[in-house]
Amino acid sequence: LIASFQPKVLEGKRVLITAGPTFEAIDPVRGITNLSSGKMGYAIARAAREAGAEVILVSGPTALPTPHGVRRVNVISARQMSEAVMDAVHGQHVFIGVAAVADWRVSNASDQKMKKQAGGETPHLEFEENPDILASVAATTSLSGWPYCVGFAAESENLVEYGAAKRERKGIPLLVGNIGHHTFGQDDNQIVLFDDDGHTVLPRADKLTLARQLICEIAKRLDKRSL
Ligand code: CTP
Ligand code: CA
Repeated sequence: LIASFQPKVLEGKRVLITAGPTFEAIDPVRGITNLSSGKMGYAIARAAREAGAEVILVSGPTALPTPHGVRRVNVISARQMSEAVMDAVHGQHVFIGVAAVADWRVSNASDQKMKKQAGGETPHLEFEENPDILASVAATTSLSGWPYCVGFAAESENLVEYGAAKRERKGIPLLVGNIGHHTFGQDDNQIVLFDDDGHTVLPRADKLTLARQLICEIAKRLDKRSL
């Protein structure tokens, strides 16, 4: 399939997407991060653009080129990602949180590079919970009705059970589940959609094919909403 053959199912819609990992500093040269290449989020940004949407992609550090016609905002930490998302969320029709956001940041990060100790003592890191970006956007939705929120969940086991529970807990209409360690950095993926009606398994496919299918599924649900 090439772009021009895609039906413009999101023409006139504004779509905000997070993608990639976040990186939380330990000191100026070290940090902790999550496994995520950004490929799925970037594929979804591309598919949304092909479908006619105006797309903002808030991206953590990745090695990927910006999809054609997509506005990209680069961030590093979860707090920066949260700020960029909340700055852009007003007026968006759809929010898709694909980023692997670090759940914690280092609260005692050092301004200077930490040096190895002669006696072999190791640093003691302390953590603080990061803002939940998807939850903040979902709270905006409960006030204004927009944007339509889509979450992702990478689970290592019990995907069907955990996915359904996570959707409920996050209070979002659509959650996309995938089995994390089978998909990181790969070009294909297997996903499961969770909504009010239960769950649907999509056949394993490359990430762009899945992204296009997901965009169609989101567009269908937007149409239903505005009836
Ligand atoms: N998410 C987010 N901000 C965070 C953490 C997660 O926006 N601080 C979003 C992710 O982008 C994803 C969804 O929330 O769309 C689910 O992320 P996940 O890590 O699976 O959920 P958590 O609530 O963090 O639960 P867990 O304890 O399983 O990590
Ligand atoms: Ca998490």
